[in-house]
Amino acid sequence: MIFGKKDHLVGLDIGSSFIKVAELKITGKGPVLHKFGYTRIAPGTIVEGRVMDMESLADNIQALFKSQKIREKNVAISTGGHSVVIKTINTSTRPEKELHDTIYSEAEQYIPYDIDDVNIDYQVLGESEFSSDQINVLLVAVKKNLVAEYIDLIHLAGLNPKIIDVDTFALQNAYERLPYENREKTTLLIDVGASKTSLNILKENSSLMMRDNVSGTNQILEKICDEFDITVDEAEQAVGGKTNDIVSQDRIQEISLRVAQSWCSEICEVVDTYVTSTNDAKVEKIILSGGGVFIEGFRECLLSELDADVSIINPFEGLIVNEKKFSDSFITQAGPLASIAIGLALRRIDDK
Ligand SMILES: Nc1ncnc2c1ncn2[C@@H]1O[C@H](COP(=O)(O)OP(=O)(O)OP(=O)(O)O)[C@@H](O)[C@H]1O
Ligand SMILES: [Mg+2]
Repeated sequence: MIFGKKDHLVGLDIGSSFIKVAELKITGKGPVLHKFGYTRIAPGTIVEGRVMDMESLADNIQALFKSQKIREKNVAISTGGHSVVIKTINTSTRPEKELHDTIYSEAEQYIPYDIDDVNIDYQVLGESEFSSDQINVLLVAVKKNLVAEYIDLIHLAGLNPKIIDVDTFALQNAYERLPYENREKTTLLIDVGASKTSLNILKENSSLMMRDNVSGTNQILEKICDEFDITVDEAEQAVGGKTNDIVSQDRIQEISLRVAQSWCSEICEVVDTYVTSTNDAKVEKIILSGGGVFIEGFRECLLSELDADVSIINPFEGLIVNEKKFSDSFITQAGPLASIAIGLALRRIDDK
C-alpha cells in the first residue's frame, strides 16, 4: 500500500458549475475510492474559464475539503476550454532534440496567441497514416496567465497545486483505467459540462482527434432566462424541477431537447471531419460524461444520428468502492460528474 507516500494527490476538478474532489487509496488489490464529493458554485464565479471571484471559490474549495474530511494538501487540477489549445500537427520524423526545437519554433502558426503568453507541451502520437517519414504530434498550449490564476486560487485555498492537467487528458486517464473491452474500436469520449464540451476520438487508448467547444448546459439556462426574463437562479430552480408559475416543465423539456439536438449536430460534424480526414470507416463507440448526460433526449439523439453504441461513463467501475460508504444511487448520480476528478486523482506527482 502506498497511500500516504509523497506522490499521493487529491484530484480537484474545478468546473464552472460544480467543483468535484476525489481521493483514492492505492492498495495491492487496486485503487480504492476513499473520498468523493462535489458542490455547486455560484453562477458567475468562473466565466469563460477565468476565475471572477477568487475568495469565494477558494472558500468553496476549502468547505468541500472540510465536508469530505480530506487532509491531504497536494492536489492535481485541470484546465480546459478557452485558454487551452490542443492540436494534432504533422511533421517530419527527426531526433528528439531537433523535434523539440522544431515544435517550439513552429508552434506559433498553430496557436492563436502570442507564443510568449503560453506554456507549450507536446507528445508524439506515432507515425502519420499518410507517410512513414512523418509523425503526428499532439501540441498543447495553455495560457500562462490562466495557469498563474489557478495556482493562486489553489494557494489561497491553502493547498499545493502539484499537477496542472488538461480536462480532456484527465477524462482519458479515467477512461483508460476502466475495465472496458474492445479498445481497438474507434471510441469518442465526450464531456458536456455547464460551459464547455470536449471531444476526444481514441483507438487503443491513443488519441486521434480532439476538439473543444463552448456548448454546455448553460445554454439551456440562458435560453430560459431570455425567454421568460428571469434570473439564472430562478432558471436553475425551474430546471431542477421546482414548480414555477412562469416556466412550465413542458417548455423546459422542449428547450433542453433543442439544445441537445444542437450538441448532437456539432458532434456529428466532428465525426464527419474525422471520417473524411482518415481512412477510418466510422466511430463505433461513444462514451458520455459531464452534466450534459442528464439532459433528456441527448443520448437518444446521438443514437439516432450516429450508428454507434452510446453509453454513459461510470468512472467508479475501475475502483474498489465500499457500498456502505457510497450508496449505489449516489454512484449512479455522481458517476457522470466524477470522471475528471477521478482521472486527476489517478495521477501521481512524478507523472508528466
Ligand atoms: N442530476 C442532474 N439533472 C439535471 N442536470 C444536471 C444534473 N446534474 C448536473 N446537471 C447539469 O450539469 C451541469 C454540471 O455539469 P458538470 O459538472 O459536468 O459541469 P462543470 O464541470 O461544472 O462545467 P464546465 O466543465 O463546463 O466548466 C449543471 O450545471 C446542470 O445543468
Ligand atoms: Mg467540467
